[in-house]
Amino acid sequence: MKRERALKGVVLVGGTGSRLYPITTVTNKHLLPVYDRPMVYYPLQALVNAGVEEAMLVTGGNNAGDFLRLLGDGRKFGFSRLHYAYQERAGGIAQALGLAETFAGGDDILVILGDNIIESNIRQAAAEFAAQENGAKLILKEVPNPSAYGVAELRNGRITGIEEKPDDPRSNLAVIGIYFYSSQVFDVIKTLEPSGRGELEITDVNNHFIRAGTASYNVLDGYWADCGESIDSYLEAVNLVARKGANDRAPCPQG
Ligand code: DAU
Repeated sequence: MKRERALKGVVLVGGTGSRLYPITTVTNKHLLPVYDRPMVYYPLQALVNAGVEEAMLVTGGNNAGDFLRLLGDGRKFGFSRLHYAYQERAGGIAQALGLAETFAGGDDILVILGDNIIESNIRQAAAEFAAQENGAKLILKEVPNPSAYGVAELRNGRITGIEEKPDDPRSNLAVIGIYFYSSQVFDVIKTLEPSGRGELEITDVNNHFIRAGTASYNVLDGYWADCGESIDSYLEAVNLVARKGANDRAPCPQG
């Protein structure tokens, strides 16, 4: 059934970036350069390429003002408007997302983690999600080191569960940091308990939709880079962008 709700974007650029210390000791990871532009430009461009017109950036820590100076109202990326929210404490991806409830206002949302970079675009996935009645759409990518990520288990073409950073992964399919949700997600977040690392986990949100039978998935074309996993993954991301471009080689917004 086709729905009439808009797709709004949410980019998460909070957290501590502790895996990249000391280069993130005094600055926010998502302000670091990745080839010819700041890291946060890539997820913002990915939203624009997917057809998102209005987005919210959720940040935290000491550099919130730097994002305002860098990104302004978002129009240089093609947004009609970019909104901002502040996460007081790095309480997890799902907690950061919860701050976007009023902004979402009942519309669908496309969430992207600010350290994730993709080579291609996710327009097709967005079109498929628009035809999905509710729930979630997750994006998967085969990786050589699944233990570093949320890992999906598939059976008969359906996703049956996700384990967060398992020692003994059941597949090599990482759940990348790009998630489509209906506005139900905000009610799900309110039911979560903090995990062992004291955070509200996005994997718990996704497993909720899987159990409800309303989670679909696509496998990503082109490369996926997670700049925050380790210093080596950051370096690899820079090299991938330099060699292959990103976001279908979108030009760098100036100004
Ligand atoms: O990159 C994909 C992976 O991202 C997924 O495979 C995992 O399932 C998911 O849990 C997540 O794992 P990470 O351990 O890599 O997440 P990290 O703590 O690095 O946070 C990712 C982004 O989320 C980060 O760039 C900023 C944002 N964030 C994170 C936290 C903990 C916030 O905005 N606020 C937060 O409190």
